[in-house]
Amino acid sequence: MKFFVDTAEIDAIAELNDLGMVDGVTTNPSLILKSGRDILEVTKEICDLVDGPVSAEVVATKADAMIAEGRKLAEIAENITIKLPLTWDGLKACKELTGDGHMVNVTLCFSANQALLAAKAGATFISPFIGRLDDINLDGMDLIEDIRTIYDNYHFETQILAASIRSVNHVLESARIGADVITAPPDVIKKLAFHPLTDKGLDQFLSDWAKTGQKIL
Ligand code: E4P
Repeated sequence: MKFFVDTAEIDAIAELNDLGMVDGVTTNPSLILKSGRDILEVTKEICDLVDGPVSAEVVATKADAMIAEGRKLAEIAENITIKLPLTWDGLKACKELTGDGHMVNVTLCFSANQALLAAKAGATFISPFIGRLDDINLDGMDLIEDIRTIYDNYHFETQILAASIRSVNHVLESARIGADVITAPPDVIKKLAFHPLTDKGLDQFLSDWAKTGQKIL
């Protein structure tokens, strides 16, 4: 499973990238706002840092304008993935931009039928939002499972990019179901390393080691 980082914070991306944990990056207008940076500048820096796909989102709502914005974003670097919302116009833009050879991430997916349409429009990635479904008392993992089943039934090549990940359990469940990619905030990725028994066990080993009076170096 590939790990994308869901942020536009350069330092956080660099820290995880140095550990080989970053297969790509996703951004959105809210994350650009949070970064306080210019979209073209910060996206270029991210693309220079990371080898994998870097999603940059259009903000137009009509297909023609989405296509124009997508083409401009794609000029930033070769690893740009144009991010389009799952609307009818977004699907039209997806068809056109993937036809040109661009990678496209269709975002804001909340149903398996939407994911089916994105695959038929040639999307490189589909981004079902788990956390936002959980927020309204639906089960985001059911959506990932349904899309996995449908894409496998018909051998669609569109990759399932599990998004709006808020917890380590979302990562675990996505991996169990077979999502191709997860995109998660840096703190969620770092929390994957935590286990209370690891900390407890390490405390015990260090305490016993101190009692031996020995040194390795
Ligand atoms: C995905 O591409 C989105 O940027 C992101 O995962 C949204 O997450 P949120 O619902 O926590 O804002």
